[in-house]
Amino acid sequence: MWNTQDWHAVQAHARRCRARSIEDIVMAEPGRAQAFSRRIGPLYFNFARQHIDAEAMADLQRRLEDSGIRGQARAMFDGHRINASEDRAVLHTALRSNLGTTPEAHQAHRDAMAALDQLEGVVGRLRTKGITDVISVGIGGSDLGPRLVLNALSEYAQGGFNVHFLSSADGMYLDRYTAALDPSKTAVLLVSKSFNTQETLINGAVLKNWLDDPSRVFAITANRDRALAFNVRHDNILPIWDWVGGRFSVWSAVAFSVVLGLGMPAFREFLGGAADMDAHFLQAPVEDNAVMWQALLSVWNRNALDYNTQAIIPYDERLEMLPSHLQQVLMESLGKSVTVDGEDCTQATSPVLMGASGNPSQHSFFQYLQQGIGIVPIDFIGVVKSGHCQPANHHFILANLLAQAQSLANGQGSADPQKRYPGNRPSSVILLDELTPRALGMLLALYEHSVFVQSKIWGINAFDQWGVELGKQIATSLMPYVEGREKADDALDPVTRELLARMLTP
Ligand code: F6P
Repeated sequence: MWNTQDWHAVQAHARRCRARSIEDIVMAEPGRAQAFSRRIGPLYFNFARQHIDAEAMADLQRRLEDSGIRGQARAMFDGHRINASEDRAVLHTALRSNLGTTPEAHQAHRDAMAALDQLEGVVGRLRTKGITDVISVGIGGSDLGPRLVLNALSEYAQGGFNVHFLSSADGMYLDRYTAALDPSKTAVLLVSKSFNTQETLINGAVLKNWLDDPSRVFAITANRDRALAFNVRHDNILPIWDWVGGRFSVWSAVAFSVVLGLGMPAFREFLGGAADMDAHFLQAPVEDNAVMWQALLSVWNRNALDYNTQAIIPYDERLEMLPSHLQQVLMESLGKSVTVDGEDCTQATSPVLMGASGNPSQHSFFQYLQQGIGIVPIDFIGVVKSGHCQPANHHFILANLLAQAQSLANGQGSADPQKRYPGNRPSSVILLDELTPRALGMLLALYEHSVFVQSKIWGINAFDQWGVELGKQIATSLMPYVEGREKADDALDPVTRELLARMLTP
């Protein structure tokens, strides 16, 4: 965790950097466009349009190194119980790489590899049963990552199954799926680490009845007993472990839907990309480490420049789901206001993360990004080689990405205040050579590790999520009132009571 001295230094750098515009800093530092860029395999990063000078960046990197980040990363990869409030190891890295040095970490990796083999066996069983469609039921980390990967990589689809996702407890999708699909050719995957998530159990119960064949109901869970109690057959249960956080679980059997849609070779490539990023994070010097650049710039934007929102804007429709996935990875991990030791944080932590695919967004919220009062640092993500056969369209998309990053940073003066572009709005650009499974794996792992580094700078636990519990508890206690089984009385919160009355007698 960074100390008072570190934060004073950050503020001193901020005063100096604020005195100059981004454009001035870029012009004043010869070769900055290259010096602030890095290439890691198929990923190229350009950080030149962040509002920070080379002196500040070098000092942040030195401070990060001195703060013990290497040992902290090692502790994670080795399976130490760094998720203190839940007393758990954090070993999602073992799902894709074997870079731990302890018996626990190696065992976790062996278990993960064995689960992949088990998964392949189940795919074979589904194929021989003539299954055509699969509904993957899960929410949060048991939904967003797999949904993103399958959407992004649909060109690689070799798995042979049609995959449908069901997340919300809103019954609309249940109606749609049960109307459109043939139950005799459908399998249901109940994806829930805890097997205690009400949305998944409510949807799962309906689908289980609709299928009327337990041989086609599967559970992906760390809680075998609860799955068995739900009448899932024991050989239809695929494991995950308490050392995999939900939002970090896309590398596990949680992504069974991805395996069914894309096939195992593509999924293994995806894991390979994340393994490349694991190695890069652990081994690259801090000044060449894309994860550390990314994390430091996020902290800089949050704490030095006081920007409370960040955006992820992919200029590729296949990555449309990326902002939603990263919202959970970032905000569920870093949306904390006390440190690991239970002290109040001295610095602001997670920004609000927003985002959507770039080209359509230019025609909706980019007005705010260009001329709004609040400044929103952006990660633009582009793909150099398109996944389609329309070169003119692709050139247009790339030109727009370039134009937005440039105009946000440099702005444009005008005698008419309405037409003035203030500029000085920071962004990074990440270019993927091509949207392959490997490149996507690298990209997602980069953000995961960046979140880890940010949490260490702030001294918070990135791996728990106690903030989601209270709402769940109150919802459970209100169910009897909403169902009309109990009458609201004075014990209920007065506003909830009034709203309840409107719901029951519209
Ligand atoms: O309520 C939040 C959360 O616990 C997330 O952290 C998690 O990804 C999601 O719910 C789903 O949890 P589970 O996989 O246990 O159903």
